[in-house]
Amino acid sequence: MSRWTAPNLIAIAALLVAATAPASANTLAHRAPDAPRGPKATGPVNPGFETGDLTGWTATGDAFGPGAVSDTDTYWGGPFHHKGRYHLWGHAAEGDDATGTLTSSSFAAPSRMSFAIAGGWDPDRLYVALVRDSDGRQLLKQTGMDDEAYVRIVWDTGRWRGQAVHLEVVDRKTGGWGHINLDDVRTPNDPVGGDPDQDDNGLTFRTLGQANQPTGHQYAADALRPQFHYTPYQGWINDPNGVVQFRGRHHLFSQHYPDAPLWGPMHWAHADSPDAVRWRELPIALTPAPPATPTDNSGIFSGSAVEDDDGNLTVAYTRFTDTEAHPGAKPETVEIATSTDGVRFGAPREAVAEPPAGSGAGFRDPKVFRDPADNRWKMVVGSGDGGRGRVHLYASDDLRAWTYEGVLTEGDESTGAMWECPDLFPLGDDGTWVLLYSTNEGGESVQRYAVGSYDGGKFTADRHGVLDGGGDSYAAQSYRTGDGRRLMTAWMSDWNVKEPTRVNGWAGAQTLHRELFLRPDGGLGQRPVKEADTLEKDTIASVKDKKVKGGWRLGRGDTARLKAVLDLNATTADTVTVRLKAAPGGAEATELRYRKSAGTLTLDTAGSGYGTADSYTTRVAPAADGTLSLDVLIDRSSVEVFTGDGEALTARVYPRYQESDGVEFAADGGELHIKSATLTAMGSSWSD
Ligand code: FRU
Repeated sequence: MSRWTAPNLIAIAALLVAATAPASANTLAHRAPDAPRGPKATGPVNPGFETGDLTGWTATGDAFGPGAVSDTDTYWGGPFHHKGRYHLWGHAAEGDDATGTLTSSSFAAPSRMSFAIAGGWDPDRLYVALVRDSDGRQLLKQTGMDDEAYVRIVWDTGRWRGQAVHLEVVDRKTGGWGHINLDDVRTPNDPVGGDPDQDDNGLTFRTLGQANQPTGHQYAADALRPQFHYTPYQGWINDPNGVVQFRGRHHLFSQHYPDAPLWGPMHWAHADSPDAVRWRELPIALTPAPPATPTDNSGIFSGSAVEDDDGNLTVAYTRFTDTEAHPGAKPETVEIATSTDGVRFGAPREAVAEPPAGSGAGFRDPKVFRDPADNRWKMVVGSGDGGRGRVHLYASDDLRAWTYEGVLTEGDESTGAMWECPDLFPLGDDGTWVLLYSTNEGGESVQRYAVGSYDGGKFTADRHGVLDGGGDSYAAQSYRTGDGRRLMTAWMSDWNVKEPTRVNGWAGAQTLHRELFLRPDGGLGQRPVKEADTLEKDTIASVKDKKVKGGWRLGRGDTARLKAVLDLNATTADTVTVRLKAAPGGAEATELRYRKSAGTLTLDTAGSGYGTADSYTTRVAPAADGTLSLDVLIDRSSVEVFTGDGEALTARVYPRYQESDGVEFAADGGELHIKSATLTAMGSSWSD
């Protein structure tokens, strides 16, 4: 399958546009009579649709009828975040199936411009383009992100400064997400922000958009791309797969679709690392057959990896077959494939040809492990039936021939109808076993754990918990390292999370690797993998015994680690807040609030910027000496919080402004006593 890059897209688009007529005077018939004309105009007429109609814009087709200018504030997923009263909502007039174009009046290209975009992702059929009047050449283009909420794109247009140009909004897509939204085109008036009259609070927009992304792995240039977390160079990732230490190196595979920042026919991306924090990209490990039909989503779903008895790397995964494209096929089977060099895999072999009875909701995500009880290979597979999630167990002597051993364990109606990505492993040295699974409970993606015992056939839970108290992680998978640690990583997102990074051509990240341990209270604890310390660079700021009333800023850090010890005994405020990715003046921030009287820690993304606005609360126990320790990893569009007692809260956040990198403390109705706090810059996981 072909890869796309920004220059490619522009080239393709230029070809498409060459066939269409450039805007001419008579296509500007709706322009307001007093509007400045032609190349002298500093911007398009009616740049934010604040006339409430299409004044100044010319439509073809039916996608952008008069009803497309809308004053609707919210959609099914929350607020649009448009500017002013009106915006161009490509869905409002004629829905997804309508197609058409909308052309602005002509204006002189400024050196920079910006606009807010939303709607479907499809660089060929849905986009806003900057077009030169003289030859109709498409100079720049930007597609949406399969979300209705606006994200601001900044274009560097200096090369064409002064030339007569216009905007073209193109909708050639029908069906789901077949529309595009546009608002608040800014040409002369502070296109990158800073204008208090435009409600920017004097702040500067981050430079987002496909046109700004360099080719190659120059990750530092992408304002939203985590620097010390695994992300795909382009396209989409979800679940971590096949995590294993093999011949000393840590391997990380990921569910991956290389051709779009959207879920699609699944491949396995591959990276390896000497230390579980510095990653090297390897070739795509597993590739599905070419789609049989345009909508064929068949692919290679989640699975696991082990070092096999021959010392090679064997992976087991779900072969998913889209039965609409392949009538009569089994939708989910288990296959294995082996690599002798840890990079290239041989032909797959079928391991389980069909699901066992009682798999009505699905049968996928095999996790293979060596069972210490009988020294055989075992495999857990996620499933569900009759509204309850369950896990099936298989056994094998050679990883090839598998026998069904029965249901390992199952849930009740409260824990989701299908358990995905099960993982079963011993932890500690007292015979304790842990089960992880991911599920959907009433529309929410949740990762759960159970601590208990395993007798070679059944798992019995003594204790249940939520694996991550934040909202944005899913499909965790663990492995044992050579030095006996149990490391885990998860998809740092889930099926409900908005992915504004799509405007930069990619979506999805994996969490930092974490070490799992049993807490004194019997629950499952986690802490950042100790090798993360080796990414630490300079100290940005450090304090001891600091008393805070109201608010106080420790320093600025966007790719940084905050370690703080709060003395709760000496703190008189009931609620203390750590504000991360905070803009000066409070325009945006991600808040971490501890409430002493309730013993709860809340991660609040309601004011974080673009992305999902939410709030997640978990119970946290202070240490015996009355201190609360926080270890917070901040990485451009992610925040991972670890508490001293082993809780973790993970969220994706997408700030709008360049200045949103403050780390601040605040106390309400009293004083906060910070025993110590250190903010340290973190280095990159990528060698280039
Ligand atoms: C979990 C999951 C798995 C499946 C994979 C497909 O996020 O739904 O059950 O194997 O994603 O990409």
